[in-house]
Amino acid sequence: MGGATAANQLEGAYDVDGKGLSVADAMPGGKQRMSILASPEFDWTIDEKHYVYPNHYGIDHYRHFKEDIALFAEMGFKAYRFSVAWSRIFPKGDETTPNEAGLHFYDCLIDECLKYGIEPVITISHYEMPLHLAKEYGGWKNRALIEFYVRYAKVLLTRYQDKVKYWMTFNEINSATFFSALSQGLVPSNGGADKTNVFQAWHNQFVASAETVKFGHELKKDLQIGCMSIYSTTYSFDSNPINQIATQQSIQEFNYFCNDVQVRGEYPVFTQRLHEKYGVKSEDLEITEEDLILLKNGCVDYIGFSYYMSTVESKTGEGTSASGNMVLGGVKNPFLQESEWGWAVDSDGLRYALNDLYGRYQVPLFVVENGLGAIDKVEEDGSINDDYRIDYLRKHIIAMNQAIEDGVELMGYTPWGCIDLVSASTGEMSKRYGFIYVDLDDLGHGTGQRSKKKSFDWYKEVIASNGEKL
Ligand code: BG6
Repeated sequence: MGGATAANQLEGAYDVDGKGLSVADAMPGGKQRMSILASPEFDWTIDEKHYVYPNHYGIDHYRHFKEDIALFAEMGFKAYRFSVAWSRIFPKGDETTPNEAGLHFYDCLIDECLKYGIEPVITISHYEMPLHLAKEYGGWKNRALIEFYVRYAKVLLTRYQDKVKYWMTFNEINSATFFSALSQGLVPSNGGADKTNVFQAWHNQFVASAETVKFGHELKKDLQIGCMSIYSTTYSFDSNPINQIATQQSIQEFNYFCNDVQVRGEYPVFTQRLHEKYGVKSEDLEITEEDLILLKNGCVDYIGFSYYMSTVESKTGEGTSASGNMVLGGVKNPFLQESEWGWAVDSDGLRYALNDLYGRYQVPLFVVENGLGAIDKVEEDGSINDDYRIDYLRKHIIAMNQAIEDGVELMGYTPWGCIDLVSASTGEMSKRYGFIYVDLDDLGHGTGQRSKKKSFDWYKEVIASNGEKL
C-alpha cells in the first residue's frame, strides 16, 4: 500500500537542469484543456498570453521531494509509484546521450524512498513525451519513436536495476482513442483525427513496450515489468440484447484490446472489427512479422490499472448522458452517486474489475490508481475534513478485500495523487486527490505549503493495520 503520482503533474521545474519541454508543458490549464487539444488549430505552441500552464510549476516537488517523501513515510507507505519525466533524461527525445542532471534527480528521489523502506514503482512514460517528438516527428505514429523510447527505457532499467524492481512501460495506454494527445502526442494538426494514426501509434508503443520488457528480463531476471491501462467497469443500460452486445464490444475495445496485446503477446480476434469501427484499413498499418514475434517475446509480468468509475452503455440511446465521464461517455447510472466532476462512484465496480481481469489473464494485478477528485475546504483552524475521500477509499479497499477473497491475486494498491497535484484532464489544482493538501490554486497562487488532511491519519492507520482498520 502506498500512493501514486506522475512527474508532469507534480514536479514543476519544467525548464531546470537541462529538462526539455514535454507535451504536458504545452497543455493549458482549465476545464477547457481537452477541447483546446482537440481543436484543429492547436499545434503544441505555448501561448502564455492567453493561458496558464500549471504543469510548469506543479507543486514544485522537484525542490520539495524530501519533505514530500518524509510525509509519505510518516503515513507508512510501503510503495510509491511515480514516473520519470522523459524530457529530463532526453530533453528533445532523439539525443543519444542522456542528461546526467536529470538522472541525478531520480537517483536522489529513489534513494530517498529507499531510505524509508518505500519500494519505488516506476512508470517509464506517464502522459508525457518530449514535445520535440510530438512536433517534429508527429508523435507515436512515427516508428522512429520506438528506438528513442527503448533507448530511454534502457538507460533507466540499467541504472536502477538494483534499486527498483517494479516498472510499468506506458500509463493508461488504452486511453488513446480519447486522450491520444497525452499518451501519443497526437492532436488533429499532426494527424490525431485519423484513427489509422492512433492505431499505428498504439502498435509502435506495443513494440516499444515489448522490447523494453524483453531487455529488462534479460538484464535482470526478477524485474517485474507491467502494462498499465484504465479499467472502466461497463454495464449494459438494460437487458435489451442490442445494449448487451454494445456493452460487450465496448469492454473488448476499452478493457481488453491493449491488455491482450501486452499480456498475451498477440492482437485479439476482434481487432478487425475495431479497425472497421474507426475506419482503419488494416493494410495501411505497418506491422511487420518481426514486430509480431517481439510482441510474443515481450509479454508483461503483471497488469497495473487505474480504476475511478464505471460506465453504462446504451446503444439504444435511452438514459441521460453522463457528460462528466470524459473517457467513455455512456449514460448515467441511477444506482450510483457522482463526484463533483461527474465521475460515477462505484466501489463494487472495482471488485468486478479485479475478477474480470484476473479471470481473463491470470497474471497478478496492481491497482496503481484510484481515488476521488474533490474540492477540499480548509477550515479556519487549518483542518481539512475530507470524510468524502475517506468514505470513497474505504469502500474501494473493502471491494479489493472481497476480490482477494474471490481468489484474485492483488499485488498492491497505490491510490492516485497521494499529495495534491495538477489534474491531467483539466489542469486544475482544485481537483484534489491527496492525503496531503498543497496550498496552491488553479492559477498557481498560494504558499505551496503542505498540510495533512483528515484522510492522512486515517490512511496511516489503514496501512499500519494492513487494511483491517478501515
Ligand atoms: C488517470 C491518469 O487518468 O487519472 C492521471 O493516469 C490522472 O494522470 C488521474 O491525474 C486522475 O484524472 P484527473 O483528470 O482527475 O487528474
